[in-house]
Amino acid sequence: MKMKIAVLPGDGVGPEIVREALRVLDAVARRSGHTFEIAEHPVGGAAHDLCGDCLPAATLAAAKDADAVLLGAVGGPKWDSLPAAERPERRALLTLRKELGLYGNLRPVKVWPALKGASPLKDEIVSGGIDLLVVRELTGGAYFGEKLRSADGRSAYDVTPYSVPEIERIALLAFESARRRRGRVTSVDKANVLETSRLWRETVTRLHAAKYSDVELDHMYVDNAAMQLVRSPARFDVLLTENMFGDILSDEASQIAGSIGMLPSASLGKGGRGLYEPIHGSAPDIAGRGIANPIATILSAAMMLRYTFGLDAEADGIERAVGEVLASGIRTADIAAPGVNTVSTTKMGTAIAEVLA
Ligand code: IPM
Ligand code: MG
Repeated sequence: MKMKIAVLPGDGVGPEIVREALRVLDAVARRSGHTFEIAEHPVGGAAHDLCGDCLPAATLAAAKDADAVLLGAVGGPKWDSLPAAERPERRALLTLRKELGLYGNLRPVKVWPALKGASPLKDEIVSGGIDLLVVRELTGGAYFGEKLRSADGRSAYDVTPYSVPEIERIALLAFESARRRRGRVTSVDKANVLETSRLWRETVTRLHAAKYSDVELDHMYVDNAAMQLVRSPARFDVLLTENMFGDILSDEASQIAGSIGMLPSASLGKGGRGLYEPIHGSAPDIAGRGIANPIATILSAAMMLRYTFGLDAEADGIERAVGEVLASGIRTADIAAPGVNTVSTTKMGTAIAEVLA
């Protein structure tokens, strides 16, 4: 099987954490005999510094040509003053999502047994185990709708368009994911106020009745979902959301796990194509100090093996290795209890790769 991976390290801690994910993939390759064809390309502010564009044509072409993209992070204060459409977040991330047709964003959130103490929620709320999956629509809604600032600069709007086919394909991904998990989907909307949400609810309900009546479905307003996520997160299996609601709820959910440094993501399009990245950003405050947690990126690489390449055993192996290293007490600063010794980004990556060797 051809396994061509475009690696886009990007800005801030991006290059440091991607290096560790590549170390882990290398360990997987040696052990399994698979060959990953890896090529790095500039993206984000780093690419802007090189050639004046956060998403150079050659990088976009390489991403399209690859089977999978592994991305670190983009953005930082140095590029905040660029015009909105040229900034790393919009020019690089949103354009990649749209151009690659990556409509389905999977963000799994779990509390690792060894890290229960790192969650800000009370023990009794997380002790039964938390394991939920946010399935976020990624190429529609207000992110990509028409935007306008009036001529006098004193009013503005962002249109939030959604069509039935766009809702159906993301709902299908949520239902299929639920079948492989605990069989429950909670669809999030604001159907008491928004017309797009009413279309969303109708469409999800229709697809459920037609093809997925074996899956349990409930609908929840987004404000209530935000509350339930901290009140009783264990009740959730799959959370299905539109683009903006999923952005907000996945950051909230990440805190349940103790650190945003633990959370991977997969952005999927047609035919198994995917972009994999940690859900955290470029963390300019700690960049270059070798202290960032590489686990979110390493787990993103595991998702890549699972979703794009169908290498479930290898993906399971990486996840098990992360669990073992955490159980042995090895911690980067973001997941360490006060007074506990911490290790560098490289030490953490090496420890996980060694379990796999
Ligand atoms: C995310 C990020 C992006 C988003 C930003 C950087 C544009 O917050 O991936 O969650 O809003 O989608
Ligand atoms: Mg976000």
